[in-house]
Amino acid sequence: MRIAVLKGGRSLERQVSLRSGARVEDALQRLGHDVVPIDVGADLVDRLQEVRPDVAFVALHGRGGEDGTVQELLELVGVPYTASGPSACARCMDKVVSKHALRDAGLPTPDFYAFSQTAFEELGAAKALPAIEERLEFPIVVKPAGQGSALGVKFARAAADVPGAIVAAFSYDTKVLLERHVGGRDLAVSVLDGPVGPEALPVVEAVPVAEDFYDFEARYEIGRTRFICPAEVSDAVTARAQELALAVWSVLGCAGFARIDLMLDHVTEDLYVLEANAIPGLTDTSLLPLAAEAAGISFEALIARIVDLAVATARRGSLRA
Ligand SMILES: Nc1ncnc2c1ncn2[C@@H]1O[C@H](COP(=O)(O)OP(=O)(O)O)[C@@H](O)[C@H]1O
Ligand SMILES: [Mg+2]
Repeated sequence: MRIAVLKGGRSLERQVSLRSGARVEDALQRLGHDVVPIDVGADLVDRLQEVRPDVAFVALHGRGGEDGTVQELLELVGVPYTASGPSACARCMDKVVSKHALRDAGLPTPDFYAFSQTAFEELGAAKALPAIEERLEFPIVVKPAGQGSALGVKFARAAADVPGAIVAAFSYDTKVLLERHVGGRDLAVSVLDGPVGPEALPVVEAVPVAEDFYDFEARYEIGRTRFICPAEVSDAVTARAQELALAVWSVLGCAGFARIDLMLDHVTEDLYVLEANAIPGLTDTSLLPLAAEAAGISFEALIARIVDLAVATARRGSLRA
């Protein structure tokens, strides 16, 4: 098949996307496909019409590529593509939207309050902060609604830290969340669709080596985070984490593959869903490929399966006419 690999783009996660894309291209070539890399920009629609790929492999992360925008264009141009469609992408990319959907569905996610820039500028939201601080208790996690890779995520340890953390989060998005902190372990469960339906892959634990928490730098520099897969947690926790990930997948309407980030409370062993990533990293230090490997699925087999799913979905006619 002729497969266009969409990578790069203009999001803050451009560099990660270039690495995901390069690794995907390599695998597709080894699988014998005709691979056309496309660094996504203003000429995307032209390029797609010129290349006329059988499938587009979307290896984009962050705004534009992971939020449903590119997926809408692919639907319009009529090119089958990998992973989730526009609506699931839009839900996953916005933590306020996805957390509301999870809470409404009865799935556990840390308590939160969300604000737009307008609420602060025009509605005096700052006056509500003391009440929120009382309800959530310190430390409070402040994060932008729509970023990834821990960009703009800050832990406020006292009331004095909150305004600065909010300002920092607003530099990434016009909406921010204040969220209850979960003291515990960082787990991730990747979900991969297949002939018998979506399956949850082995649980990965991310253990930061030195940092305060699992931050952007730690995430992509080899050696700064230790990934343990399968995570050393009880069978009961593993089963609950996998079950929860599948429930999140279905509530948000994901397709192809996705990665659900969770926290395991140290004290209560309760699990909380932090977010769902519609297009998780596919680099050589990324969690989904690691989890697939632990399940006996090589990177090439993983990529082949994701492409097959895109083709099958298009055949079932889910691409809008
Ligand atoms: N409520 C929370 N309690 C404890 N740690 C958190 C919380 N929210 C985020 N974190 C830490 O920050 C990291 C990034 O947060 P996450 O919500 O997954 O956003 P991102 O989209 O940036 O990955 C998490 O992996 C976790 O280590
Ligand atoms: Mg995350």
